[in-house]
Amino acid sequence: MLIVHTITDLRQLLQSAHRQEEPIGFVPTMGALHFGHLSLVRACKKQCAITVVSIFVNPTQFNDPDDLRNYPRDLKQDCDLLLASGADIVFAPNEKEMYPQPDTRRFSFGHLEKVMEGKYRPAHFNGVAQVVSRLFEIVQPTYAYFGEKDFQQVAIVRSLAAQMGGYPTIIACPVVREADGLAMSSRNTLLTDVQRSHAPLIAATLVQAQAKTKEMTVDGLRQWVIDTINADAELEVEYAEIVDEQTLQAVGHWFEGVPSRLCVAVYARPVRLIDNIRLQP
Ligand code: PAJ
Repeated sequence: MLIVHTITDLRQLLQSAHRQEEPIGFVPTMGALHFGHLSLVRACKKQCAITVVSIFVNPTQFNDPDDLRNYPRDLKQDCDLLLASGADIVFAPNEKEMYPQPDTRRFSFGHLEKVMEGKYRPAHFNGVAQVVSRLFEIVQPTYAYFGEKDFQQVAIVRSLAAQMGGYPTIIACPVVREADGLAMSSRNTLLTDVQRSHAPLIAATLVQAQAKTKEMTVDGLRQWVIDTINADAELEVEYAEIVDEQTLQAVGHWFEGVPSRLCVAVYARPVRLIDNIRLQP
């Protein structure tokens, strides 16, 4: 496994693969890696000749300076995990390398960026698009792998790839969870022991919600999710939305056989956790 920090070095490493038109797979991350990230590496390795993983805590997608400052960073441990997972190349640039000048580009994703994360984290998806588009241009991958843990991000990145001419192909991978159901997240390490013991209620509530589509209206279920999680003194719902999986438009009624997504953001203050699950009425 090779670790590079500059665009020049990365391009040089990928030159022959590009020339021979080998499938290059790309897994963008912000580090503090866990099995969720490594599941993307595994999926990538299955499909591609070369697996490139980037590690870059992208400042432009953080709307809260404390969140950026507190974001866990451990390049050495990340590289150990990636080596064990069989990644081929790690690209770990610094801020100057990624943004020699401030990135002032404005992207547009219509409704996709106006709801849920887009509504509560203004400019977040513009920052994601800035860094992901730049990484796509640098790596020029055939396939890029994203986790459904960030369900809305997958929709945004698909739209971005379409706007960039249809490349790369975006592959969405399922949410990886801890044994008690909590969705794996780099932010889980920031929870206190007490918060950590309460946090599995989020996923447990989503699973219970799956069984309630027959007996509740969409709005009734949404409210039930909010009330159930808020009943826990350690947790506070920021939003709970039931949306169309493609358009992210709010669903008004259940349609049998048509799946939707229940997406939530929950504070275990000051840590913010997100999760989602498919509802299949
Ligand atoms: P980060 O939060 O590090 O996540 C990197 C990738 O891992 C994302 O595609 C995310 O959805 C996926 N991932 C995280 N936890 C997961 C889990 N429990 N199960 C499955 N996949 C999981 O998302 C970002 O970084 C950034 O926004 C990035 C795309 C790198 C741009 O800066």
